[in-house]
This record gives sequence, structure tokens and C-alpha cells, in this order.
Amino acid sequence: MARTKFVCGNWKMHKTVAESLALVKELAGGLGEAAGKVQVAVAPPFTALKAVGEGLARSGPIELSAQDVHWEKQGAFTGEVSVTMLADLGCRHCIVGHSERRQFFGETDETVRKKTAALLAGGIAPIVCVGEPRAEREAGRTLEVVDRQVRQGLAGLSGEQLGKITVAYEPVWAIGTGKTATTAQAQEVHATIRTILRELAGTVADSMRIQYGGSVKPDNARDLMSQPDVDGALVGGASLKAPDFLAIVRGALR
Ligand code: PGA
Repeated sequence: MARTKFVCGNWKMHKTVAESLALVKELAGGLGEAAGKVQVAVAPPFTALKAVGEGLARSGPIELSAQDVHWEKQGAFTGEVSVTMLADLGCRHCIVGHSERRQFFGETDETVRKKTAALLAGGIAPIVCVGEPRAEREAGRTLEVVDRQVRQGLAGLSGEQLGKITVAYEPVWAIGTGKTATTAQAQEVHATIRTILRELAGTVADSMRIQYGGSVKPDNARDLMSQPDVDGALVGGASLKAPDFLAIVRGALR
């Protein structure tokens, strides 16, 4: 099945409002022939979501994503942000379970599950990140780790709900390190994820996008995204510079 490629820029803790607006303007102006052919989103920090959302509404086909969310509707959760608040700003997507959240902020498969369910209930499409740390890869446990993260993070969802999800495979050892998975390593894990998704969601799995993330750059994006089960990219560092991110987006064109 032909799946539209989906490329999302994860800006992490970078960019003020003014810097965010400048970047998004450059991106919208530079999409060219990729506009409408590749699904493109950016995930600015919470502080810039409102301004970027308004800028995007004026300037083109780039969608807004958040980087994280809390699963409760509201309440005494200092520092947290709810699904309703993100929807209010026009967020169409939200990243969940990023390895930096897992590593530094106590994210678990169980909090990933709660966040994913809350996002779906609130009409925002989750981008659920999975991926093995270096030690697990070296011990030959990559597929086992990813299998657990996918099954536990997506537990209890219907086929219809699963169809709204993007899974991002991001090997932890490749994030921000300049070490990319080889196309064969990526395809192996992506195919395994697709098999698990088929078990969970049936034929819906054939329309679900599985992004690769981890040091995606203009010079490796096309090869990675030409693999049969690599349906796009979740891009960190290279999404902060418009020419690099635009080159990656163009790499998604067939
Ligand atoms: P990177 O980050 O492209 O800088 O490796 C990817 C990510 O963390 O989503």
C-alpha cells in the first residue's frame, strides 16, 4: 500500500518565539514540489506553539505538533500541559515517549500508554517513539525491547484508534550522535514493528506510518526513506536549519 511519507521536525528545547517564526516562514516558503506530496510537521517547544500555529495557518501546509503532553484532563500538575490545551493551539500531532523523556524525565511504557490514549480521545494524533539503548543493541535485544515498547505503549487501543498513530523508531544510540542506523538495520526493525502492528490492528497496519529517527541528515534521508517500511522521519538537530530540513523533506519524494 502506498503510504504518504510523514516528516516531522522535533525542535526539542531550541528557539525563542521570534526564532521559531523565522524558521517556519523559511520552511513554508521552501517546500516547493514537496507541498501536498509529503506530510510535514514541526514540533516547537510549548512556548512557541501558539505563535507558530498562527504563522502556519497563514503560510501553508505544515502541521503543528507538540513534543509532550500530560494524560490528565486538568488539575494540580504543576508544569504540565493537557491535550485540550494543545488542541486549543491547533496541534494536530504530539510526540510521546521520546527517548529523552524516557531517559531524563521518568517516561515509562505505562505513561506512554496513558498519554497516547488521552491524545486519541482528544483528537490529536500521537507520534509514539520507541527504540533501544546502545547496550540492548549490543546484547542482541533490539527487537525484544522494541516489541515490548510497542505492545505496552499501544495496549488497549482499537484498530481504528491505532490507525491514527505514527510510530517513530529511534535507536537511542543514533539520536544526536551522528551515528545513523544503516538502511538494513532500520528496515529490519521497521518490518518487525509492522508485523506487531498487524497483530494489533489487522490490515489497518498497512496504512500506518513508521518514521525513522536518529541523526537523519540530508545525505542519508533518501536512502532511509526508500526502505519499504520506512515511511518518513522524525528529525532533531537537522530540523533546526531550514535548508537541511527542506532537503530531508525532498528526500521523501519518490
Ligand atoms: P537527531 O534527533 O535527529 O538530532 O538525532 C532525533 C530525535 O531525537 O527525534
